Amino acid sequence: MAAKTKKSEKNRSILMISSEMVPFAKTGGLADVVGSLPIELAKLGMDVRVVIPRYYSIDPAKWDLSPTLSSMGVWMGGELEWCSVYQTRIRDMVTVYFIEHHGFFGRDGLYHDAFMNDFLDNPRRFAFLTRAALQLAIDLEFQPDVVHAHDWQTALAPAYLKTWFGNHPILGNAASVLTIHNAAYQGVYPKHHFPYIGLDWKHFHADAFESYDYINFLKGGIYFADLVNTVSPGYAREITSPHGGFRLAPYLSNKGENFFGILNGVDYADWSPENDKMIPQSFSTSDPEGKRVCKRQLQKHFCLDEDPKIPIFAAIGRFVDQKGFNLLAPAIERALDTMLMQFVILGSGDPGLQEFFGRLPGKYPGRAGSHIGYDIALSHLIEAGADFFLMPSLYEPCGLNQLYSLRYGTLPIVRATGGLGDTVENYAEATGEGTGFTFNNADASALYSTIGWANSTWWDRPAHIKKMRERAMRQDFSWDKSSAQYQETYEKIIAAKRKRDG
Ligand code: ADP
Ligand code: GLC
Repeated sequence: MAAKTKKSEKNRSILMISSEMVPFAKTGGLADVVGSLPIELAKLGMDVRVVIPRYYSIDPAKWDLSPTLSSMGVWMGGELEWCSVYQTRIRDMVTVYFIEHHGFFGRDGLYHDAFMNDFLDNPRRFAFLTRAALQLAIDLEFQPDVVHAHDWQTALAPAYLKTWFGNHPILGNAASVLTIHNAAYQGVYPKHHFPYIGLDWKHFHADAFESYDYINFLKGGIYFADLVNTVSPGYAREITSPHGGFRLAPYLSNKGENFFGILNGVDYADWSPENDKMIPQSFSTSDPEGKRVCKRQLQKHFCLDEDPKIPIFAAIGRFVDQKGFNLLAPAIERALDTMLMQFVILGSGDPGLQEFFGRLPGKYPGRAGSHIGYDIALSHLIEAGADFFLMPSLYEPCGLNQLYSLRYGTLPIVRATGGLGDTVENYAEATGEGTGFTFNNADASALYSTIGWANSTWWDRPAHIKKMRERAMRQDFSWDKSSAQYQETYEKIIAAKRKRDG
């Protein structure tokens, strides 16, 4: 059994619950954040424990998982649901627990099947994960000062804490934080799942879990959490504006000073051209030669003409509405028709877009490359070898690829929304200042013009490209500032809770 933790300010105990975490299970940026934030918090002296599912794809041997509890009973909807728990340590700083339940997590895919159909039992799977994480803290006698939940999947944690465990000897002291990585995904499900979730029907009302007679996990989480944050100040402003927030704006605004944005950090141990093990040659501002080698390798990989002079425009991401690939498709085709450039893309999702991008290499041989799928090593090579990185997102809570791109001197071309607007400084043609190219209108012609602007800068003002590249590579989006903000945030809610509880 774990020893009870001390309560000094430096040694706060944090229980983090998430559905994804690098390096174990990832579909997007949530995994990157949960993979690195706990380590940064541990560096500040905190005892951080993370709980994630033991998905079928997580190989116990590969990650050196050791058994923690052979069977743990979790009360769900008035009956006990049984699971096992495993654990491992990352970077010798953070303990990660894995909830093993074959019925819920012993299948391929995190949220949906191979045909992109969401699993129908997702509300039960993630309610169970969340409740199991709290049960684990109880069984291990790990007394968290803060329970930190991420997105709708674990948004029930604040509600369980307040309604079930308010006076509990282990959990009663815990304040709750809910981080919203994407307000569009709210976890909306038919209300017949509510009894299984195990909350009293009195919480199924319009300010908390009820939304148009459905359960809304995220909305309930917002109501019960002591503090809610999102992943950039820009996105925090957008989703509290009258038309933002996918109908959550009033509830987020209600949180007052207990809702704001903290920009994500980057784990430069994983994402930095100086020490990236996945790229053919390292490089830095003082030794830029490696970028040429990476570019050649990227051209080779996609069977593009191996000409260092031609700029490569790149994109990586989930083919979903959010990412603006519907704007990119016509814009890039027009650009390839009219400009001297190359284009590569890595991603998957919408079948129509997969087909469109999958066909581009056939239409533009030697000039366009596409990989429909998910490939982490290739994503590093693209970041390193490309010259420009395209993110025409319709909205973007933070965005990590533009931050990685900056570090690799791959100038981002972004729609100035959410975190993209907060992190990319638009090119000033008169002076050569800036770290990328931004545009505002969510339409293909605005994107096309901006690609043209970047392309003409490449050919006509190479000194500006060099200057911007160096400036981009020097930007510091490390976790230092953001983890300190999380620490401050924790202290603030711990103090408020202690005051409330007397
Ligand atoms: P989101 O979380 O909305 O997908 P982010 O920019 O925050 O967007 O993070 C996306 C993360 O997922 C990045 O680390 C990116 O490199 C990675 N990624 C997205 N699609 C792919 C893919 N097809 N192959 C490899 N990595 C991918
Ligand atoms: C979400 C957002 C993305 C953000 C990531 C990590 O998936 O779409 O913008 O960077 O979470 O916070």
